[in-house]
Amino acid sequence: MNTIYPIKLLEDKIILLDQTRLPQEEIWLEMIDYRQMIEAIKMLRIRGAPLLGLAAIAAAYLAAIQFLREKEFMKLMDNAVDEIESSRPTAVNLFKATTKIRQILHESIDSKVIKDKLRTLYEFLYEYEESACEKIGMNGITLFAPDKKLNIMTICNTGSLATIGIGTALGVIRKLTVDHDVHVYASETRPLLQGARLTMWELQKSGIPSTLITDNMAGWVMKTNSIDAVLTGADRITANGDTANKIGTLNLAILAKYFKIPFYVVAPVTTIDSSLESGSEIAIEEREHNEISSLGNKQIAPMGIHVFNPAFDITPASLITAIITDSRVFIPPYHFDNVGIDPCVYPNIN
Ligand code: MRU
Repeated sequence: MNTIYPIKLLEDKIILLDQTRLPQEEIWLEMIDYRQMIEAIKMLRIRGAPLLGLAAIAAAYLAAIQFLREKEFMKLMDNAVDEIESSRPTAVNLFKATTKIRQILHESIDSKVIKDKLRTLYEFLYEYEESACEKIGMNGITLFAPDKKLNIMTICNTGSLATIGIGTALGVIRKLTVDHDVHVYASETRPLLQGARLTMWELQKSGIPSTLITDNMAGWVMKTNSIDAVLTGADRITANGDTANKIGTLNLAILAKYFKIPFYVVAPVTTIDSSLESGSEIAIEEREHNEISSLGNKQIAPMGIHVFNPAFDITPASLITAIITDSRVFIPPYHFDNVGIDPCVYPNIN
C-alpha cells in the first residue's frame, strides 16, 4: 500500500506537499513563518479535516519559534491563533486544535515551555490520527459481507492526503481491497477537483481499480453500475449526526436514499462536534467566485456575473445509514457519548 505523509515537522520548520500542484507536480514546500502555513491552509495546499487540526498546531509552533524572545510573546501568540482560526471555518478539527493551543498558552508564561508543549501536542495528535485511520478501516470493513465484489462511490479526497495514514473513507476502501474485489467511482468534486486530482492519484498509486466521473453523473452511475455503498468523509459532525462535508455530498446522500444504497460517513472522533446540536449551526465556508467562473487561469463564464461558491454542504442525519469512527460504528439515532478520548480535548501534555 502506498501511504503518503503530506506534512513533516522538523526542528524549526514544516515541510508540506503542495496539494494544489498535484498530480502534475510533487512539490514539497518549506514553511518557516506561521503566516506561510495560514496561506497554505487558505489555498488548500494542505487540506482535509484531520490534517487541518495538525496544520493549525504546526502554524502555532512556527509562531512560537518566531516570537520566542519577544517581550510581547503572549499577545503575539494570541493574535497568531486568531489568524489561524480565521483561515477556514468549517472543519471542527482546526478549532479543537486552537482551543487546546489557547489552553497551553494560558498554562505557562515561559515561551520555551509553550513552544515545547505545542510540539508535543502536534506529535500526540499526529500519532492519534494515524492510528485512528487504522481503527476506522477495521471498523468499516465489518459493514461489508466478505468476498464480495464491491462498487463504491466517493467524493472529494479522504485519503493519505487529508489525514495521517491510510485515510478515512479511502482507508476503509483500502482495507476492503484485502478481501474484496473493489472498484471505486470517484466524483471529480467541482470546483477544486479534489476527487479528480487527489483521490484518483492516490487510488492509482495504490493500484485500486477506479473510474473518474463528473459530479453530475452520480445518479446515472448509481442506476446503471450497481453501486454497493457511498463512503464519504466529514468536516464536522454535530450531536444529532448531521454532517458537513464537501459540497456535493448532500446530492449523493439524496441519490443514495432514492436508489436504496447505504450511505456511510467516515471520520475520526476528532471530527465530532458535540457542542453543536444540529447542522444548522455549522458555519459553511464560502470561497472565491473565480474558483467557479474560471478553469485554472482561464475565465470560462462571462465577467461580472453572480456566483455562489459554498465549499461544504450539510447532510442530515436522516440520510446517513451509519457513521464509521475509530471508536465504533454508530447507527441512528446518533448519540456520541463514550466515544473515547478526543485527543484535542484531553491530551496528556506535560
Ligand atoms: O476543502 P477540502 O478539500 O479541505 O475538503 C475536504 C473534505 O470535504 C473531506 O471530505 C473531509 O475534510 C474529510 S478528510 C478525511
